[in-house]
Amino acid sequence: MSTPYLTRRSQLETYFDRTAVEAWSRLTSDAPVSKIRATVRAGRDTMRATLLGWLPQDLTGRRLLDAGCGTGALAVDAARRGAEVVAIDVSPTLIGLARERLPAMVGPGSVEFRVGDMLDPWLGRFDHIVAMDSLIHYQAPDIVRALAELSLRTDGSLLFTVAPRTALLTLMHAAGKLFPKADRAPAIVPVTEGGLRRRLAREQALARFAVERTHRVNSGFYLSNAIELRRMPPAPVESGATR
Ligand SMILES: C[S@@+](CC[C@H](N)C(=O)[O-])C[C@H]1O[C@@H](n2cnc3c(N)ncnc32)[C@H](O)[C@@H]1O
Repeated sequence: MSTPYLTRRSQLETYFDRTAVEAWSRLTSDAPVSKIRATVRAGRDTMRATLLGWLPQDLTGRRLLDAGCGTGALAVDAARRGAEVVAIDVSPTLIGLARERLPAMVGPGSVEFRVGDMLDPWLGRFDHIVAMDSLIHYQAPDIVRALAELSLRTDGSLLFTVAPRTALLTLMHAAGKLFPKADRAPAIVPVTEGGLRRRLAREQALARFAVERTHRVNSGFYLSNAIELRRMPPAPVESGATR
């Protein structure tokens, strides 16, 4: 992958593994949080439900990759519906938390938590890949390149989120820059839907994938667009060819 991707991945590892680990652990639990963070938690719950709602209800025997799984809530919900989940994150601390939080019984499915890069080809093939809010910190060309790599290993759908570019978000990012540098998250990179669609259309590896649906979740300080890319069935072979 490109140098900007690797640089950003390393910043994210530092941020999610050290700087923000306490805040992230709290946000992803039931512990009380500030009013602002409560809006983010509610938005994230809605987003997780949206993405899970785009998967088949019965996931028995389906392999699912939770790409950038954080503390693993989506992975556990998918396993409860029967999926065989591989959940991967660059942050060893978040994976440690995810393992601690994994219920003894996740139902008919299973979850295997791993530390590493979501693009690792050794993870194998999947029926579905979900990247909830894990590509939002990467530049648009890297988002599309990552999707292209993931698509090579996806037989069904590829669900991901991006930060939509809106005037309010631009303002919030500008305000965020007023905080001391050490506390700052690596910037979220907002993208326009039109720009992203054009990039997706230009990417050869994604030629067999189509945008199936999109949905925006807007809850206070949480704003994210969900997108489903679905592998198209192969074109039917022409019958009745003349000899
Ligand atoms: C905003 S958190 C979202 C976590 C989880 N998907 C959720 O919604 O709760 C983004 C996560 O993506 C992980 N991440 C970012 N880039 C990654 C990469 N290239 N490979 C694996 N994990 C990555 C980060 O470590 C972080 O835990």
